[in-house]
Amino acid sequence: MSAALPTSGREWHLVARPHGWPKAEDFALREAPVTAPREGRVLVRNLHFSVDPYMRGRMNDVKSYTPPFKLDHPMDGGAVGEVIASNAEGLAVGDHVLHGLGWREYAEVPAEHAVKVDASIAPLSAYLGVLGMTGLTAYAGLFEVASFKEGDAVFVSGAAGAVGSQVGQMARIKGASRVVGSAGSDEKVKLLVEEYGFDAAFNYHDGPVVEQLRAAAPDGIDVYFDNVGGEHLEAAISSLNVHGRVTVCGMIAQYNATEPAPGPRNLALVIGKRLRIQGMLVSDHAALQPQFVQDVAGWLASGELKYRETFVEGIENGFDAFVGLLRGENTGKMIVSLA
Ligand SMILES: NC(=O)c1ccc[n+]([C@@H]2O[C@H](COP(=O)([O-])OP(=O)(O)OC[C@H]3O[C@@H](n4cnc5c(N)ncnc54)[C@H](OP(=O)(O)O)[C@@H]3O)[C@@H](O)[C@H]2O)c1
Repeated sequence: MSAALPTSGREWHLVARPHGWPKAEDFALREAPVTAPREGRVLVRNLHFSVDPYMRGRMNDVKSYTPPFKLDHPMDGGAVGEVIASNAEGLAVGDHVLHGLGWREYAEVPAEHAVKVDASIAPLSAYLGVLGMTGLTAYAGLFEVASFKEGDAVFVSGAAGAVGSQVGQMARIKGASRVVGSAGSDEKVKLLVEEYGFDAAFNYHDGPVVEQLRAAAPDGIDVYFDNVGGEHLEAAISSLNVHGRVTVCGMIAQYNATEPAPGPRNLALVIGKRLRIQGMLVSDHAALQPQFVQDVAGWLASGELKYRETFVEGIENGFDAFVGLLRGENTGKMIVSLA
């Protein structure tokens, strides 16, 4: 056990359920006592925590695949930090761990929920992104869910984001015939082509997605990796070739909607084209973890795979980071840094 532990730390609470776009008044940064870890637990000083689009769903009081955040309780989510006190075998002061108690400065983490990570292999923040949950989502969603095969033409939306940027590059590395991405700014579009090696990319604000996609993939697409939903999904259905496959990973365009969003108007094309449209949850694909880490570590080392991170400094900016993510202020993984 370490001697001088902090007596209190700050943590973000949800205090009201947002209607539409989250507002600052829906959240509060509160001071909470910090105590020595109980039996089987460690006390972690968080260095980085993740803000993710799925957290918007957890702010609603609806039944879903993850329970809603409780009002007036600390929010949670992916985080990496340093063990500053240990009351658990196998974890020592100074160890770095990945765990699920983000949105706070200090976390008392049960040892079985803490995964040791090595800061000498990759920067700690990478375990929240390229080597973590969003990287595995891209890997599993492309290779397992979409059954990607060499020669496929792939379209990914949200392509400059944490998941999307990895999907496009993984497809390129594994021999896609064409990789197309869409993103929300010209700067992001440039990054996709010039740094990530996409064959074509477009800014979805520039005109109808259906037209821009058709121009970017004149021979159609075989795989659509959906991060956005709405107009993007409809356009993809229109461009998909026979036996095309869609991984429905996210539908961020509707996360703040106050009315149910209309479905794609061209869904009947699914029949003649024999399309497969499949939803995914990354948590179903834990068995791929060793293969994923091996492949991605190799591609990072060879320079074939690149990634970006957007850091927002300071726990007090946690809400701004989250809303910024929903607005597209991030390039690559959005991370709140407390280091
Ligand atoms: N199913 C799963 O297990 C799983 C796991 C992880 C993530 N996801 C989903 O995957 C998607 C990407 O997540 P991420 O963590 O990688 O986030 P991200 O892409 O790094 O960040 C979100 C991005 O969404 C884009 N966006 C926001 N509103 C949009 C709109 N109306 N239309 C088009 N794009 C919009 C913004 O980029 P622009 O500037 O390009 O607009 C923003 O940067 C999300 O839908 C998320 O829910 C699913």
